[in-house]
Amino acid sequence: MSDRAKTIAKEVAKRRTFAIISHPDAGKTTITEKVLLHGHKLQKAGTVKGKKSGQHAKSDWMEMEKERGISVTTSVMQFPYGDALVNLLDTPGHEDFSEDTYRTLTAVDSCLMVIDSGKGVEERTIKLMEVTRLRDTPILTFMNKLDRDIRDPLELLDEVESVLNIMCAPITWPIGSGKSFKGVYHLLNDEVIFYKSGQGHRIQEVDVLQGLDNPDLDARLGPLADELRMQIELVKGASNTFDHELFLAGELTPVFFGTALGNFGVDHMLDGLVEWAPQPLARMTDSETEITATEPEFSGFVFKIQANMDPKHRDRVAFLRVVSGQYQKGMKLHQVRTGKDVRISDALTFLAGDREQVEEAYPGDIIGLHNHGTIQIGDTFTEGSQFKFAGIPNFAPELFRRIRLKDPLKQKQLLKGLVQLAEEGAVQVFRPLTNNDLLVGAVGVLQFDVVVHRLKTEYNVEAIYENVNVATARWVESNDAKKLDEFRRKAEMNLALDGGDNLTYIAPTMVNLNLAMERYPDITFHQTREH
Ligand code: G4P
Repeated sequence: MSDRAKTIAKEVAKRRTFAIISHPDAGKTTITEKVLLHGHKLQKAGTVKGKKSGQHAKSDWMEMEKERGISVTTSVMQFPYGDALVNLLDTPGHEDFSEDTYRTLTAVDSCLMVIDSGKGVEERTIKLMEVTRLRDTPILTFMNKLDRDIRDPLELLDEVESVLNIMCAPITWPIGSGKSFKGVYHLLNDEVIFYKSGQGHRIQEVDVLQGLDNPDLDARLGPLADELRMQIELVKGASNTFDHELFLAGELTPVFFGTALGNFGVDHMLDGLVEWAPQPLARMTDSETEITATEPEFSGFVFKIQANMDPKHRDRVAFLRVVSGQYQKGMKLHQVRTGKDVRISDALTFLAGDREQVEEAYPGDIIGLHNHGTIQIGDTFTEGSQFKFAGIPNFAPELFRRIRLKDPLKQKQLLKGLVQLAEEGAVQVFRPLTNNDLLVGAVGVLQFDVVVHRLKTEYNVEAIYENVNVATARWVESNDAKKLDEFRRKAEMNLALDGGDNLTYIAPTMVNLNLAMERYPDITFHQTREH
């Protein structure tokens, strides 16, 4: 093995790249803070972002844009944990929820699902889990807020299993909750780990007692000790045991209990992540060849483009996930779609809190490429090979508006602006076949404001929105050209072309969509579209 191959293999073995999925307010930000605290990236937890920054009113987005300088550096965080190097990719969650959130989930190798234990499985979590099912991504689960009164833990596991269709294997089990939260029992290590409140801002000294049968447990917990022993019997009988293969297949999730605010249990989860979560995984190309992480040639794909990070420079950064090989500062990269070679000497890395120029990067890492409008979502970069990565999709929008110009003479600029913004992944644009409307579709509501603002500042076009009666869109295709033609004629009123001229079915209601799918069985209706 060459020295380079050895280095790559060593670096790959260290990497774990994951993202957090959760419903707003379940505790994603707080967990991120504690995770970074454990990674020694923060001296004192509580400085990832302003606590209320996720709670902007919709019209406040420009303020948010100003703060992007901060939020962008937190969009990728790299930190050491034990012998591992962990990459945590941020998933915009509140009003800044967008298609980027979904696409980020296609760029990681595992996910942490955070659940508010007082509430259980919530709507946003269900949606995000659906996206992770596209690649059967392995999921770890953290049941948060044990310092509050929670729902019955067995019932919580049942709910995850039935609603999200994934088996649960508790790794830790809570001892009490709320005011009487005492800690957790670690089922695999046979340890009781005690919780001490008021330690949220630092790494807690670990207070462990070995063995459930240990008589010292009775001394510390009193009658609760026997209760715990009985409960654990019950839990072992009623739940799944951890199985690494099933975890890697995305069929079973290890479950941890704790409180992010109290900084208790986050380290148990991190230990599990480092031990069990996959190293940077191989990715498929569009010709169905697998590119493994340890291949010597550099390759990667762009999954997100962030604009206006520095408004003075109209700075856009393309986020590239390294799939194989090694990035070295100054190397020449081949952009497969355009066929152009570019020398990259100023790629960014995102160590928590700082944007730094990166010297080297390895599979699993994210690097930021400066982009002057030439890079698109889904772009593959190599050292010269001609393949393209598959699996970086567009997701069917869930919100729609009709966009209209204040000055009708600027129709051309409007369309150009919209198509470019769509290429960046900000929104999607649809042009109905039967009229001159322009429909804008988004996954998160904030994107509408972002687009109007950027049209004005970057394309000098003033536009406004009107409500429109659209529930969802589906990309349509068929192997049977004749049937597709017939469909095109009969359903013309509901058809549109997207920014890339792909045929799309625009459904006014979900009922209408279901009827259309029944009526045209030879047509496939896709919820995602590959770039
Ligand atoms: P998010 O990013 O998922 O939206 O959640 P975030 O971490 O911002 O947490 C949402 C709220 O829940 C915050 O309260 C946070 O302090 C609280 N929280 C997070 N983890 C725990 C926990 O383990 N126990 C308890 N009791 N609360 C937790 P907030 O009122 O919005 O903010 P703040 O005013 O408390 O700072």
